[in-house]
Amino acid sequence: MNTDLEEFLTRLDGEIRAEGDWGKPADYIPELARIDPAQFGIAVALADGTIVTAGDAERRFSIQSISKVFSLACVLGRIGEQIWTRVGRESSGARFDSILLLEREQGRPRNPFINAGAIVTTDELLTGRSPKETLSEIVNFVRAAADDDDIHIDKTVARSETETGWRNAALANYLKSFGNLKNPPELALGTYIHQCAIEMTCVQLARAGRAIAGLPGATSIISPAKARRLNALMMLCGHYDGSGDFAFRVGLPGKSGVGGGILLIAPGRASVAIWSPGLNAYGNSKMATLAAEKLAQHMGWSVF
Ligand code: DON
Repeated sequence: MNTDLEEFLTRLDGEIRAEGDWGKPADYIPELARIDPAQFGIAVALADGTIVTAGDAERRFSIQSISKVFSLACVLGRIGEQIWTRVGRESSGARFDSILLLEREQGRPRNPFINAGAIVTTDELLTGRSPKETLSEIVNFVRAAADDDDIHIDKTVARSETETGWRNAALANYLKSFGNLKNPPELALGTYIHQCAIEMTCVQLARAGRAIAGLPGATSIISPAKARRLNALMMLCGHYDGSGDFAFRVGLPGKSGVGGGILLIAPGRASVAIWSPGLNAYGNSKMATLAAEKLAQHMGWSVF
């Protein structure tokens, strides 16, 4: 039934591998720096319930910043609009770990997808419960969205980032100095780092994105009204200072992570997960971005 897509993804897998310029894996998290960049996987979950894949679609990778979409969904479910008193919803035009921006914004991060914004979102989820309970809530939410219990936190990646994450530690402390952290910085930071270390396959991530894409049967976990807002934020802020370039090239909402993953949403049509660990200058996957561009073009998918 989806022969055209199957053939296209197989061809795409070959084209990406033939490119030969994979980019460089994130080097500020030693455990991610060790990963062979010459890998590529893609999974497309369609409205008819089928999933079409190619390449390393069953290999687990660190979802990193893609987790910020799920933690935001949890927070919107818990406190709704109130979160916007603590974090903005504008494009940042700055690196994902910018400190300068936080000073300009007087401690209210520009959006929930840059690191400072996600630390605030996680801090909100942490309020009134332990880091362990908070992480269970986030992981269980992802499991429910993917309809798959075999999703876990990679403790080695979390430890690796904890040992080297001085910039995030600075952001957490800086947020606290502005009065925009309710919990001790080390607790908010530790919970945030572990949330980023969730590992998933492309198939699991594509399944988890079905609710955001508003696919039939998946809308009970995230309401259509919330999904619409998540999509707007993914479009404007999902690739940091590379968001404009991504929108220009791909034309669909997406969220990247430094593990090399991209969750791409074609509203009403498909939820797509693409993974290739080598990054471009913005810290987004080089080959996953190219694959997203080619897929959107081939399928005629665009929100514009
Ligand atoms: O906080 C960090 O730096 C990482 N745990 C996540 C950053 C990230 O994924 C940025 N994405 N492209």
